[in-house]
Amino acid sequence: MLRFILSWLLASCLLVSPTLAPSPPFAMRISCGARENVHTPPTNTLWFKDFAYTGGVPFNATLPSYISPPLKTLRYFPLSSGPENCYNINRVRKGHYNVRIFFGLVLLNGFNTEPLFDISIEGTQIYSLKAGWNGHDDQTFTEALVFLSDGTASICFHSTGHGEPAILAIEILQVDDNAYYFGPHFGEGAILRTATRLSCGDGKSKFDEDYSGDRWGGDRFWKSATTLSQADSAISTESSIKLPSEAPNFYPEALYQKAIVSSDTQPELTYTMEVDPNRNYSIWLHFAEIDPAITIIGERVFNVLINGYIAFEDVDVIKMAGGSYTALVLNTTVAVDGRILTIALHPKGASHAIINAIEVFEIIVAESRTLLEEVRALQSLKGALGLPLRFGWNGDPCVPQQHPWSGADCQFDRTSNKWVIDGLDLDNQGLRGFLPNDISKLHHLQSINLSGNNIRGPIPSSLGTITSLEVLDLSYNFFNGSIPESLGQMTSLRRLNLNGNSLSGKVPATLGGRLLHRASFNFTDNAGLCGMPGLPACGAHLTAGAKIGIGFGVSVTFLLVVIFAMCWWKRRQNILRAKQLAARGAPYAKARTHIHDIQLARNTYGHSRTAAESGPSLLT
Ligand SMILES: *[C@@H]1O[C@H](CO)[C@@H](O)[C@H](O)[C@H]1NC(C)=O
Ligand SMILES: *[C@@H]1O[C@H](CO)[C@@H](O)[C@H](O)[C@H]1NC(C)=O
Ligand SMILES: *[C@@H]1O[C@H](CO)[C@@H](O)[C@H](O)[C@H]1NC(C)=O
Ligand SMILES: *[C@@H]1O[C@H](CO)[C@@H](O)[C@H](O)[C@H]1NC(C)=O
Ligand SMILES: *[C@@H]1O[C@H](CO)[C@@H](O)[C@H](O)[C@H]1NC(C)=O
Ligand SMILES: *[C@@H]1O[C@H](CO)[C@@H](O)[C@H](O)[C@H]1NC(C)=O
Repeated sequence: MLRFILSWLLASCLLVSPTLAPSPPFAMRISCGARENVHTPPTNTLWFKDFAYTGGVPFNATLPSYISPPLKTLRYFPLSSGPENCYNINRVRKGHYNVRIFFGLVLLNGFNTEPLFDISIEGTQIYSLKAGWNGHDDQTFTEALVFLSDGTASICFHSTGHGEPAILAIEILQVDDNAYYFGPHFGEGAILRTATRLSCGDGKSKFDEDYSGDRWGGDRFWKSATTLSQADSAISTESSIKLPSEAPNFYPEALYQKAIVSSDTQPELTYTMEVDPNRNYSIWLHFAEIDPAITIIGERVFNVLINGYIAFEDVDVIKMAGGSYTALVLNTTVAVDGRILTIALHPKGASHAIINAIEVFEIIVAESRTLLEEVRALQSLKGALGLPLRFGWNGDPCVPQQHPWSGADCQFDRTSNKWVIDGLDLDNQGLRGFLPNDISKLHHLQSINLSGNNIRGPIPSSLGTITSLEVLDLSYNFFNGSIPESLGQMTSLRRLNLNGNSLSGKVPATLGGRLLHRASFNFTDNAGLCGMPGLPACGAHLTAGAKIGIGFGVSVTFLLVVIFAMCWWKRRQNILRAKQLAARGAPYAKARTHIHDIQLARNTYGHSRTAAESGPSLLT
């Protein structure tokens, strides 16, 4: 069930301005739980309401941090509404996006409770909230760069059993298609989750917007850092910087007007952060020589080491940027197996190190989705079977792999490069309704167990087209009608349980044939199945028409037999009489007799007949 369908009519946003200026980046901001669209200061930013589009429960928000947009509502998703809940936002222009989700705190019994849950975008899990997140401003949201190509953005929240997912706001902000191009693995298959974004030497955290940054920047949040270690110091300049706001990343100029420089007491600059182990990280380092004391090439040279390995050697900012007050961006990708990421700048000779900003992204390989036809079939099943709310069944059935739909078994199909469903385990789940024909669109099913539910109606004959099916257990339901002939086509079937239903009629002979192949079938406890070993013979179950036909046939046969018997008896009597006459010397002693003969005999022997008064009178 796509419970939270947001059909945003964005015509107004997408209208091309009368001048043929390039269209501005697509931007959608959602204020979760809001009944009306909201405008927030200081820039009058528009946030769309999600009221009436979604499930979950709207609630008053307490803002977990000053970073959170000043919105008054949130939406939380009670565990009873299922483990996964999604926003499916339609009409999203194809492109590359910064998707940002702000978390909420749910006020329960006077206490703000901190829910922990997982977040996925387009089927790929991007983040797991960490305990204590509401104590760190920059952990009150998560964001990731993703490619959205199918016109929708599917953002799901997956319960982990620690409280009820609560969402304050969602932002979907278009960026340049090549933003943060990090090398050959960049593209639709790669998602970059922001691990940190540091503005060095700045005393106050800011969004791009506060920096009057370019709208194609994705309104990044820059956390302030006035120092990386005790001995360094912050410097800044009012001078303008060359080349900051260039495609594809459009950094704010102000980022380069502040920096941290190391000192004589500690010439190295070291930045350390905690990361999730065994991941790849994309690291972006920003430099601009803004120290008026350093003006020529060779005056400041340093190596950049990441977790002890040299990532960039002999970095000379003036040389590489092409001058002072000019932006230089370096990026590299590293695999981190431990929990610590250390970026260290080691100056050469007597020089000091300088750094303006640091960005660290976790590189996440985007998951393949489930075959669309199979997703639709499951959705149709969900509706027809009246799947209880607790199942959820929102988002993608198989991904994120950490949170597949319960009751659906997934397998990766190498030919289509998609996930497919190979098993349905929905036994004893209180399902009602009927089994839709669409179930046959789950072509890859090997096993179906719907035993012990309250499913009614016929067994869909389309089931027979799932040729890979090996196990079909529909026992203990209320299936009625006859077993479709098509089930005989399932050549892989080795287990068929139809016992405990209201089925009637003849079991298809083709199924009987399968028994020879060590298949095990159970047809007992039904309304009246016949025609298999262990079941009654089928004759007892004739249609009314057949009964009339047979009744008529029997009557006609009986009549014919009676008539035949009468004729035979008459003839036999004639023969006997003829024999008697012959015994008296009459000329008609032949066995052959017919009426004419006898009449003749009577006329001829009228008088003698009187004489034979005691003889039986055969003729009338
Ligand atoms: C939410 O806040 C409004 C006023 O801002 C108040 O009227 C309403 O009762 C609050 N709702 C809840 C569930 O606390
Ligand atoms: C990032 O680095 C790679 C090489 O490692 C380079 O090809 C790419 O152009 C760089 N990206 C940007 C935006 O500078
Ligand atoms: C990191 O990148 C390398 C090379 O692209 C890849 O082989 C490896 O699987 C990646 N590791 C993770 C955890 O994604
Ligand atoms: C289907 O589920 C029922 C009940 O959980 C179980 O007893 C039965 O063995 C399962 N059927 C098959 C074919 O595994
Ligand atoms: C099967 O049961 C449904 C009601 O559940 C009834 O409408 C239908 O006629 C029945 N079909 C047969 C073949 O008995
Ligand atoms: C078939 O199902 C009935 C109950 O409906 C059960 O008593 C019987 O043992 C089953 N037979 C086999 C061979 O499993």
